[in-house]
Parts: sequence; structure tokens; C-alpha cells
Amino acid sequence: MKIAIIGASGFVGEKIVDEALSRNHIVEAIFRRNPIVKRNNLTLHKMTIFDEEIFENVIKDVDLIISAYNPGYYHVDQKNRYMDAYKVIFSLCKKLNKRIIVVIGATSLIQYDGEFVKNGLVYPKPWLKALEGPDLVYDTYKDDKSLNVTFVSPAVELIDGVRTTHYAYGTNHLVYDKNFESRVSVQDLAHAILNEAENPKYTGSRFTIAYQE
Ligand SMILES: NC(=O)c1ccc[n+]([C@@H]2O[C@H](COP(=O)([O-])OP(=O)(O)OC[C@H]3O[C@@H](n4cnc5c(N)ncnc54)[C@H](OP(=O)(O)O)[C@@H]3O)[C@@H](O)[C@H]2O)c1
Repeated sequence: MKIAIIGASGFVGEKIVDEALSRNHIVEAIFRRNPIVKRNNLTLHKMTIFDEEIFENVIKDVDLIISAYNPGYYHVDQKNRYMDAYKVIFSLCKKLNKRIIVVIGATSLIQYDGEFVKNGLVYPKPWLKALEGPDLVYDTYKDDKSLNVTFVSPAVELIDGVRTTHYAYGTNHLVYDKNFESRVSVQDLAHAILNEAENPKYTGSRFTIAYQE
């Protein structure tokens, strides 16, 4: 497949690029400034998605878009910038009739007591502020039937670890391990995203993954 990856130089995006290339996909990497190592089957597009003409040109021929966009956790207007980005991304997806997989956060998942994670005690308050953008995008677009979208929420703790390929799936509820923790590596997140890319099971909905052992 030819896959455009938005946020390809980020914490999540760079692992999605690695996983996609390891499966012999052709990757169009979209990023702003952080360096990305050049490899076969990888084209680098150092650009902003807010330049819509350039953005449209990059994605017009791809089979799939995967977005790990983030304006930066310390952006002064994180929530609105995140929302503005997805207005651009989703309107082009509709115009070009593209399928997209979007990485959001865990805050809109439901925890063990029925509360949303964002209303629980999992994240410190300043972090929650920086996570309002993904929640707003998810709430706004989750029922938009004119979009071919799959949302992905990682576990509460997303760690730079190893690719185990042993994790459990959920939809709207957090998945916990035997110590009652919700964790997954970013490498396994990338693995699950590429599985979904190749074999869609959650189109029009959301999935989460975490370790159960
Ligand atoms: N990090 C975590 O622990 C974690 C946990 C759960 C969920 N998530 C979610 O995963 C998603 C990605 O987060 P992340 O931590 O990977 O973010 P990140 O490390 O800050 O990466 C964001 C990526 O977006 C790119 N970008 C920002 N503005 C852009 C623009 N205008 N045009 C093109 N590219 C642009 C950045 O490019 P440059 O850096 O090159 O400027 C970078 O590649 C977010 O939705 C986040 O909520 C993250």
C-alpha cells in the first residue's frame, strides 16, 4: 500500500513509519522539522498540513492516511490548533474519498468504575489540558458517517519499549493488566495500527490496545 503518515517525525509517528516500512509499504512521511532517517520506499515531505494545496498533492494518490498529528503538548492553543488541523485533514479525506486512521489519546476511554479516564485520577491536571484537543476531535467526528475513519486510543501509559505483538484489544473501555495498570509500547501500537491498515476491523469506530499479562 501507499500510505501517508502525518506526524512522521513524532514519538508515535516515527514508529508507525518503521512498522509500515518493515512490511514493505510505500510511505509518504509528512512532518515539520524533526529529522527522519532516509530509507527505501520512504519519501520525506517537510511541510505543514495547513498549506492545503501542498498537502492535497501529497495525499491525492495514497491508499490510506495514518495521522499521529500533534501541534505540540505545550502549544499555546493546543485544543483549537488540534481541532483546526483535523478540520483540514478530514475535509481533504472527504474530498478525495480517503480512508484514515487517527491516533488520539486515552482520556475519552472509560475506566473500571464507568468514569471517563479524563474524569479519573490517572493524569495530572496540566496533562489533561494538553489532551483536550484529541477529545474534542473524537467527540466531534466519531459519528460522522461521511468519513472513513478509525480512531485509535493507546493505553494510559504509552512507553518507548519493544515490539511484543502480544496485547489485547478493547473498544471504548480501558484494557488493564493483572496489576491493574494500562500500558503498551509505542512499537506495539504501531503494530496494531498497521494490522488495522492491512485488515480493517474497526472502520467507523475506535479501538484501544494494552497488555493484559
Ligand atoms: N506521546 C504519548 O505518550 C501519547 C500517548 C497517547 C496518545 N498520544 C497521541 O498520539 C498523537 C501523536 O502524539 P505524539 O506524542 O507522537 O506527538 P509528537 O511527538 O509531538 O509528534 C507530532 C508530530 O506532528 C507533526 N506536526 C505538528 N504540526 C504539524 C503540521 N502543522 N504539519 C505537519 N506535521 C506537523 C510534528 O512534526 P515536527 O515534530 O517535525 O515539528 C510531529 O511529527 C496525538 O494525538 C497524541 O495525543 C500520544
